[in-house]
Amino acid sequence: MTQSQQETWDAVDDFFSGSLVPSDAALDAALADSVAAGLPQIAVAPNQGKFLHLLARIQGARRILEIGTLGGYSAIWLARALPEGGKLVSLEFNPEYAKVAEANIARAGLADKVEIRVGRALDNLPGVEADGLGPFDLSFIDANKENNPEYFSWAVKLSRVGALVITDNVVRDGAVLDADSQSAAIQGTRRLFEVMAADPRVTATAVQTVGSKGYDGFAMALVTGE
Ligand code: DHB
Ligand code: MG
Repeated sequence: MTQSQQETWDAVDDFFSGSLVPSDAALDAALADSVAAGLPQIAVAPNQGKFLHLLARIQGARRILEIGTLGGYSAIWLARALPEGGKLVSLEFNPEYAKVAEANIARAGLADKVEIRVGRALDNLPGVEADGLGPFDLSFIDANKENNPEYFSWAVKLSRVGALVITDNVVRDGAVLDADSQSAAIQGTRRLFEVMAADPRVTATAVQTVGSKGYDGFAMALVTGE
């Protein structure tokens, strides 16, 4: 994109968030402490966080699965959608990120609703199942993109009928179109589309987005069968 396009997208996101997504001490501190701890600044944008929050509320979600905690910013948005007794399980590979997220989530008053499990998500998902933490009403996949197809299949397996499975970053400036991409992340996301299309348990779509996170998009699948 041109610089002026990105400036417009940033300004419109600021307008939306300034209008509809009031700033909030816990969220601001979560971002500030994530920066201070050297985490990559790739959390969802405020208006995207609220979008996820609203989806969780529309869904009446009581159990949410997140794959990729980072500093806990999206986890705070999602956990705030949970009713009393609701639970978010978030999987994070990097123990340093998880520590930052734990503190951010505790400061947001959500420690009792959020459990972070540290390690390779593909190693921890069997335990999420065995421990009966599902079935989930909503899953948000936002981790290393090369494993997107496996994360998706796990999320569907751990879902109730009627659940949503949302995956972040499925466009990446249009790079998703590059069938010959040398990027494992792009190939993982391309395979995600094959898996979503072929999985008889879901019906899915994807939308392109622009904003402070550039030109990207979300995929969303509705789980229609076991
Ligand atoms: C990257 C990852 C994300 O989840 C995201 O939303 C933006 C960027 C990245 O790895 O570069
Ligand atoms: Mg992302």
